[in-house]
Amino acid sequence: MSDILTIALSKGRILEQTLPLLTYAHLTPAEDVQSTRKLMVDGPVIDGVQVRFLIIRAADVCTYVEQGAADMGISGRDLLLEHRPHVYEPLDLNIGRCRVCICGLQSAVDKGEPKAGSRIRVATKYDYLAAQYYLSEGIQAEIIHLYGGMELAPLVGMADRIVDIVETGSTLKANGLVEEKTLFEISSRLIVNPASAATKRALIHPIVEQLREAVGQQNNNRSL
Ligand code: PRP
Repeated sequence: MSDILTIALSKGRILEQTLPLLTYAHLTPAEDVQSTRKLMVDGPVIDGVQVRFLIIRAADVCTYVEQGAADMGISGRDLLLEHRPHVYEPLDLNIGRCRVCICGLQSAVDKGEPKAGSRIRVATKYDYLAAQYYLSEGIQAEIIHLYGGMELAPLVGMADRIVDIVETGSTLKANGLVEEKTLFEISSRLIVNPASAATKRALIHPIVEQLREAVGQQNNNRSL
């Protein structure tokens, strides 16, 4: 067995919710991963194996895990659906809850969903999910790829709809947009590289079970 176990974590809003689960599973990083500029941080040593964390962009986690540069990772379901990496997905962590929605200006949404055969422009970072949905509806969608701030595109007349994450809805509201349809409910998932799952099973299996327990505990606390 290799003497390192690498876990890829998403920077940003999910990280804060991830840390209590890691702590419950005795996987606390050795330094404050929310403030450090380091991209690789040590964790505990488990049975002689050094755990280390990669602190990377959410969209890159599945790539590191699929490539085997990380044995495990935490990734939003949105990114797994969009990029379809070849990884195992053993556990719903029930954090990072949000939804992938189609949204538009109130005036556009009031006219109703586009009809089969019509053409629309859709701004999104979920090119595959958006293209797949509109294809299934028989609507000709021109997909305009953006990296962030999708809500701007309808305001400046660049797109008729956006396909984006909605969590609280405050960004939509602040920009005068409304939801038209929810495509997917999202939460963060534990993902595992298939080769690591086989070669490091003795190490990975207990970690998955501890995280499962942590999620159960967290769910109980929420329902109190
Ligand atoms: C995400 C998403 C929305 C916003 C939704 O953007 O793209 O813009 O959050 O959250 P809300 O419903 O709670 O307002 P993020 O802040 O990650 O930045 P980005 O636009 O650069 O992707």
